[in-house]
Amino acid sequence: MPPINIAKLIKRRDFAPVLNRLVAALGASVIIEDHHGKLLLSTADAVRQTGYPVSVAGEIIGWVNGNEQAGAIAALLCHQAESEFEKRTLAAETLNKYKEITLLYEMVEQVTCCLDTKEIARLVIEQAKRVLELSSVAVLLLDKESGLMELVATHGQELDGTRSIRPGVGIAGSVWSSGRAEIVNDVPADPRAAGSARVSSLMCAPLKAKDQVVGVIKLGSAQPVNYSADDLKLFTTLASLAAVAIENASLYEQLQEAFYTTVYTLAETIEKRDPYTGNHTKRVMEYSLAIGRTMGLDQETMTRLQLGAVLHDVGKIGVRDAVLLKESALTDEEFEQIKRHAVYGEEMISGISRLRTAIPGVRQHHEKFDGRGYPDGLSGEQIDITARVISVADSYDAMTTDRPYRKGLTIDEAFAELRKHAGTQFDATVVDAFFASDVMEAYFIANSRKKILDTID
Ligand SMILES: [Fe+2]
Repeated sequence: MPPINIAKLIKRRDFAPVLNRLVAALGASVIIEDHHGKLLLSTADAVRQTGYPVSVAGEIIGWVNGNEQAGAIAALLCHQAESEFEKRTLAAETLNKYKEITLLYEMVEQVTCCLDTKEIARLVIEQAKRVLELSSVAVLLLDKESGLMELVATHGQELDGTRSIRPGVGIAGSVWSSGRAEIVNDVPADPRAAGSARVSSLMCAPLKAKDQVVGVIKLGSAQPVNYSADDLKLFTTLASLAAVAIENASLYEQLQEAFYTTVYTLAETIEKRDPYTGNHTKRVMEYSLAIGRTMGLDQETMTRLQLGAVLHDVGKIGVRDAVLLKESALTDEEFEQIKRHAVYGEEMISGISRLRTAIPGVRQHHEKFDGRGYPDGLSGEQIDITARVISVADSYDAMTTDRPYRKGLTIDEAFAELRKHAGTQFDATVVDAFFASDVMEAYFIANSRKKILDTID
């Protein structure tokens, strides 16, 4: 394809009259043809004497044949074609710049409010796919335990099977070691690229946070591509944005971890007052999260559920040892004191803003679906979903745990209890989710295997 179509050029409304007037004024005798020799325009008495090429950007797009005046017509066409070509190039460059700026703006908007490293990596890949020619992209982040860069997000993995990178090994490994982005337009010819010959051209950039390389992003094309310095500039800008966002996200993740550890330690410390309940909090959290996953609860609810499950009995700190640890049957008044732990729990955590989302789980975990629970006698969906889940997880664990004054139920007996009270004490959908959860699935598989083995015996 020629860079400018001469047939369209000479018919343009703003140019055709100029061309016709010049032909008439010069008394030129011309035959204009395209680069294939197809006739486009001819004056009445035209004869072929001399041929003048019409070229643009070093390429012949047509010919003007005729008398000595034909040269001037060819020069006019060349000038017009060059000017048209420049306009188009400029328009294309402006459009590209606009696309780049839009992309970077969108990227800043998306990644700055994202606090999940995997999600950031996925966003970077999506943006790179939009503006750069590629068949595969991979984001690898430093794993502090293994000391390697491990794959966290990818597109076109079948083309580039990299799952981890060692410093200095391969092209990505040398980008990691040098901290400098690279273009390799002929990958098979690069001695560092042994094993990645399915990629013909690639670009690789380090993800740097405070001068430390914390990751590497590389993109490749199965077909040879001439990646330019401009492509690399755009790519490294994307990489820099991603690196800052990933650094923020990992700081946030560390903070979250520290926060959960503190909350968990608090719950465990309280639990230790009652030595018979060893690991109850941990199990209630695990069962609750398993139920939540099975029910497909959203991330925000899962976070509330986790906090609520960990803290559900935190209010027991307000119940006297003589009552909490009493081994014989409780009097009505003592039972009333125990029941207050749900309200004490709310009071304890309501002063800590980060814990407030756990309040419904803590206050309502002894409410019953039929409205006969405490402290508020809520029923059905008046009870927060986190509390309905914690109630099943908590009751199951309490039923299967030995106490000084009674032996715990067997798992099958506890299952029967949950089924029996589904729809009255418990939300039946939550009980169903408990039986369908991965925790129970593992139990059922182990149990059925045992039953089969017993039968064989
Ligand atoms: Fe409780």
